[in-house]
Amino acid sequence: MIADADDWRSRDLAVLWHPCTQMREHYLDGGPDTLPLVPIERGEGAWLVGRDGRHYLDAVASWWTNLFGHAEPRIAAAIAAQAGRLEQVILAGFSHQPAVELAERLLAIAPREHAGGSGGRAPLAKVFYADNGSAGVEVALKMAFHWFRNRGEDRRTKFVALENGYHGETLGALAVGDVPLYRRVYAPLLAECLFAPSPDAYLADPGQSPAQCAQRAADALQALLERHGGEVCALILEPLVQCAGGMRMHDPLYLRRARELCDAYGVLLIADEIAVGFGRTGTLFAHQQAGIRPDFICLSKGLTGGTLPLSTVLTTDAVYAAFWDDSAARGFLHSHSYTGNPLACSAALAVLDLFEREPVLERNRATAAQLDALCAPLREHPRVKAHRQIGMVWAYDIADAPPGFSGAYHLAAREQGLLLRPIGETLYFMPPYVLDDAALEHLAGGALRALEAALA
Ligand SMILES: Cc1ncc(COP(=O)(O)O)c(C=O)c1O
Repeated sequence: MIADADDWRSRDLAVLWHPCTQMREHYLDGGPDTLPLVPIERGEGAWLVGRDGRHYLDAVASWWTNLFGHAEPRIAAAIAAQAGRLEQVILAGFSHQPAVELAERLLAIAPREHAGGSGGRAPLAKVFYADNGSAGVEVALKMAFHWFRNRGEDRRTKFVALENGYHGETLGALAVGDVPLYRRVYAPLLAECLFAPSPDAYLADPGQSPAQCAQRAADALQALLERHGGEVCALILEPLVQCAGGMRMHDPLYLRRARELCDAYGVLLIADEIAVGFGRTGTLFAHQQAGIRPDFICLSKGLTGGTLPLSTVLTTDAVYAAFWDDSAARGFLHSHSYTGNPLACSAALAVLDLFEREPVLERNRATAAQLDALCAPLREHPRVKAHRQIGMVWAYDIADAPPGFSGAYHLAAREQGLLLRPIGETLYFMPPYVLDDAALEHLAGGALRALEAALA
């Protein structure tokens, strides 16, 4: 089996260029590579099984996509059944049952503004499909911009985004992202974006509460909109957790204030729930915790339980209405070949079935409490300086992390049978929701042992 895995590695490296990877790390002249590839044979629940037979607990849910475990039989069966009926059809001029049913069901579960909301908004009413998170973000950005054009407000050409935010890798999504590692080299290609300070509770002054910190950031957003409001079409943000920015969390107060400010300055609000949607923060959608209703919600990743690429943008009748015209050019002429792919939609329907039939959020609360208790020694480790947790997301910052900590930790975690990829000095868990007692103990114990090894 080992020889087989080695053979796979060389076949892979002969032909593949891997995502988000400095490929040089996979080679070392004449010696072993610093980052050996791990060929995976199959998945079983929260576990990945390598071709060499080794098991890895997938504690990052395969780039934050997986909710109910790998090769989940009910989702797999739904995909297989759909594949036997209709695998793909153009969604312009044609329609199919999984796309319609998924849109109906997503709109039915999309949060309404809570009774105390100031806007008295109509619910979200329309769904536009794309086929990955970044593409979904592009849809929301283009729709927001085009909405103002169709209304004759041509001055509104800019977006506001949050410092340290992340919305994907395509050029439009990258333009509203602020993680230098991904953005810097492409900066000359990117559309201008106005960045407002992050409400990240981590940036609080001594003695300042997360809510006060959020209020301070909201004041800065207000000042920005005061100067530029008339040029801005939309504010885009990741509700509650800036994930790629290092799992930085903020108080829901910021979202309420952002909604009010968007209303005051006539700006549309885009909630990028791609990483935090579908129960990740303890509620089905993160922005629910603020009781607001955005003008756009972007969903992907957990939408299909991590099985197939799909994204959706939910929006309002008010947005839709401005595109309704005799002129084709005033319509939203955006498409991807696989827009609303039936297989992906049927996977998403199976995921919604699981949310409906099982007490997922309730079970997650118990799982989170159990993992939190097991992680006490990690939290109390002398080199762990900032512990934070919301729903099924845990993050720990490592004090005085040595250079190369992230890579060293990742390799040490592999030795412990764990798939973990710290973001810089931030170690985090974002596991699938299906962790039994053994998996929880494996995660808590292995993460601590990997920390000791990486710091040694
Ligand atoms: C908040 C957020 N938005 C958008 C994206 C982009 O999604 P994708 O990688 O599917 O393009 C990501 C990916 O991590 C994300 O975390």
